[in-house]
Amino acid sequence: MNLIAQISDTHIRLPGQLIEGKIDTFACLSVCVDRINALPQKPDLLVASGDLADTGSAEEYRRIKTELDRLAVPYCVMPGNHDLRAPMREAFGGSAALPVAESGHLQYAIELEELRVLCLDTLDEGNEGGWLCIDRLDWLHDQLAASRKPAMIFLHHPPFDCGIPGMDAIKLGNPGVLSELLAEHGHVIGLSSGHVHRSVFTQWAGLPACICPSPAHQIHLDMGENTPLSWTLETGGFLLHRVKDGMLAAHVVNGPTPEITKYN
Ligand SMILES: [Fe+2]
Repeated sequence: MNLIAQISDTHIRLPGQLIEGKIDTFACLSVCVDRINALPQKPDLLVASGDLADTGSAEEYRRIKTELDRLAVPYCVMPGNHDLRAPMREAFGGSAALPVAESGHLQYAIELEELRVLCLDTLDEGNEGGWLCIDRLDWLHDQLAASRKPAMIFLHHPPFDCGIPGMDAIKLGNPGVLSELLAEHGHVIGLSSGHVHRSVFTQWAGLPACICPSPAHQIHLDMGENTPLSWTLETGGFLLHRVKDGMLAAHVVNGPTPEITKYN
């Protein structure tokens, strides 16, 4: 059995800088790290699936690294549309958190006992929506062809609509190429993204597909055609993926570590 915690869209800024003047993303991440460290079963890995930093400055990556280094579990980081590859590589590159070569896309495979974790780089720098170029697709194909071990794919941009028009407009821009590639390989057991700042579950390309919430602000759940994107401070959280015998069960974990009371 493998357990993978997933956090997403931490949007870390510098001390004293609140998003929208109200959202203390660093404090929200701290609550989340405490909760993960208090889990009764320690995850084998934590995947931070993009939008680690809010503006992509080197200082923001240094700040989030201090907090992620508090995790009692190994972690790895992936880029989202708010991230920039160069400063991310500078902060994390070459360590277990970002095991990539000197240049290029920030994608890599991590071997767990029952599972290969494939972290896919969907960042299209300068654009909010995601993209998978031929180089990244070739890499994924090679990874899936190299091993028949069950694999789970993590990517920042969801390849499917969640129903919130403003987010669907900036999802993965070419999901068809990914579904075609996955159809060639029968051993992917699921995929999970971030980006939407809400927990969402569906089936896509015949696979279980999740979207991880943010530990900080959530996107307002409004599917109206012409509704502008809005944010809320409803309780944030993370996902805990349990993989056993090639089957995925994803738990949504919200809020701070709760008080636990045994049944009488
Ligand atoms: Fe985000």
